[in-house]
Amino acid sequence: MTRPPAGQPAGSVGRVIAIDGPAGAGKSTLSRALARHLGLQRLDTGAMYRAVAWGAIARGVDPADHQAVASLARTMSINVGDRVTADGTDITEAIRAPDVNRAVSVVAANRDVRATMVARQRQWVVDHRGGVVEGRDIGSVVFPDADLKIYLTASGEERARRRSEEGPARLARRDHLDSTRAASPLEVAEGAKIIDTTGRSSEAVVEEVLTWL
Ligand code: CDP
Repeated sequence: MTRPPAGQPAGSVGRVIAIDGPAGAGKSTLSRALARHLGLQRLDTGAMYRAVAWGAIARGVDPADHQAVASLARTMSINVGDRVTADGTDITEAIRAPDVNRAVSVVAANRDVRATMVARQRQWVVDHRGGVVEGRDIGSVVFPDADLKIYLTASGEERARRRSEEGPARLARRDHLDSTRAASPLEVAEGAKIIDTTGRSSEAVVEEVLTWL
């Protein structure tokens, strides 16, 4: 059982599976399959940071403007499900565009943006009575007491192949920014099970993870 966030009554949070890892490691495929198998909802926290980056670009706000982006994050209403919406606008496809890929790691390095997003992620889990949550800091910061923490990775070549539309240099830059930032960098959380998905089918990975539950 994952401990509820401060102020929440004990027992209000169900099972939580945390999945972290770099770009193209296979987090979304694994989290979808686990959610289906376990009857849980899934939260793609990367889509939340992408939505804030999209919002900054759409408003002509410099993604590196700490205060402006932090205040945007506080006021934007973001809904992440099968579709992603921001203040009622469907941005599911727009948040995967190259300009968002380029801006998102700068936005995600903003401590105040993170504080807003982490509070919403914890509330989402309370509202959904648990879930499969994927991102970069889920096992290390957002849900350190998750029932299962997974760190998914794959070789740089394979991840670049899976994300060929972004280009290897840009992907490597995003990974570098995500792993070296001061605020909640991507790292293997304490107690996380590490899986290398290089050359493995998604079915094989799901089967292995299910044996841990
Ligand atoms: O493209 P990919 O699926 O790898 O990335 P994503 O999960 O959509 O996340 C996009 C970006 O959001 C990452 O490169 C990070 O900069 C940021 N992110 C984060 O900082 N913390 C999270 N929990 C999730 C994503």
